[in-house]
Amino acid sequence: MSKIHAKITAVEGYAPEDVITNDDLSKMVDTNDEWIMSRIGIKTRHILKGDKGPSDMAKIVVDRILQDKGISPEEIGLVICCTVTPDMPFPATANIVADKCGIKNGFGFDINAGCCGFVYGLTTATKYIEAGFVKKAIVIGAEKMTSIVNYEDRATCPIFGDAAAAVLLEATEEEGVGVIDEILHSDGVGVKHLHQVAGGSCHPASIETVTNRQHFIYQEGQAVFKWAVVKMAEVTEELLEKNNMQKSDIDYLLPHQANLRIIKATGDRLELKPEQVLVNIEDYGNTTSATIPMLMYQNRDKFKKGDNLILTAFGAGFTWGSILVKWAL
Ligand SMILES: CC(C)(COP(=O)(O)OP(=O)(O)OC[C@H]1O[C@@H](n2cnc3c(N)ncnc32)[C@H](O)[C@@H]1OP(=O)(O)O)[C@@H](O)C(=O)NCCC(=O)NCCS
Repeated sequence: MSKIHAKITAVEGYAPEDVITNDDLSKMVDTNDEWIMSRIGIKTRHILKGDKGPSDMAKIVVDRILQDKGISPEEIGLVICCTVTPDMPFPATANIVADKCGIKNGFGFDINAGCCGFVYGLTTATKYIEAGFVKKAIVIGAEKMTSIVNYEDRATCPIFGDAAAAVLLEATEEEGVGVIDEILHSDGVGVKHLHQVAGGSCHPASIETVTNRQHFIYQEGQAVFKWAVVKMAEVTEELLEKNNMQKSDIDYLLPHQANLRIIKATGDRLELKPEQVLVNIEDYGNTTSATIPMLMYQNRDKFKKGDNLILTAFGAGFTWGSILVKWAL
């Protein structure tokens, strides 16, 4: 019997219309466009206003996938929502999205792997498909990062934005396309450098946690930078070697979008031409779990069947990883 593979058969992305510009930020904290562009590379970030959550953005992209593919919600066996900003602590945002989209015959859960969420989520869904457990899965990256941004902290407030993007993953017996291989890593050494102190069970919301602004992102930028700038390239080299591939075999790199300097350094170490390294950080900022599927959505018309795509990310945990996808469409 031939082996079952998982292939991406649709991708969609969405970002809210409202944006925060560098000039807007310069009215809130001591910063300016020149510093943000030269140190991070971001011009605007999108913001989801009001009491909406990641599930509202995710519903838009999942509905579009189902409609465009002519698939009934009952056919979806698994929904994974990768997010660090769930609608609420529980139930999982995946369950809320499934409910909003009428997905009733499957199961779903969230994955919190920081900015590496989508890489972990795509890997997990692939394994369920390869094991014959489900035939169609939706993997979502959806974040309302602006809900945990401290707009009094100039070191973190320029970085993050809101968005959602998702892929449809389907079982196939076709050889040589789809999600081919992946390597994932994590190291708890990163906990102290990048976290949100309050809102969990150790420090539930209290007057003190709110007053001390502990419900926001805490990041030691330089420590995170030093790891991120090495690890995405390193794990990609590891993945290439495991698959007997050369750097020249990569058609496109879809790197996590945290800092343009990190993206460029990763592309350079992998000896890629600038046009092979996909970038949207200038317009969206870091949308955490949504960066990679959003890049895939925006560049889908460039990809040809059989192209080697490398998806790589680094995030809170620390978590990092790389996936090799042979484009199937
Ligand atoms: C956060 C980050 C952009 C900061 O850039 P940096 O070049 O490391 O800047 P530093 O933190 O060293 O700060 C340098 C100076 O700029 C200042 N600064 C920080 N943010 C600023 C801002 N928005 N505007 C102006 N000055 C700023 C600092 O206060 C510091 O000033 P000082 O020298 O007087 O103390 C960068 O470290 C980064 O991208 N880190 C990695 C993030 C990442 O990859 N995350 C992945 C998971 S989400």
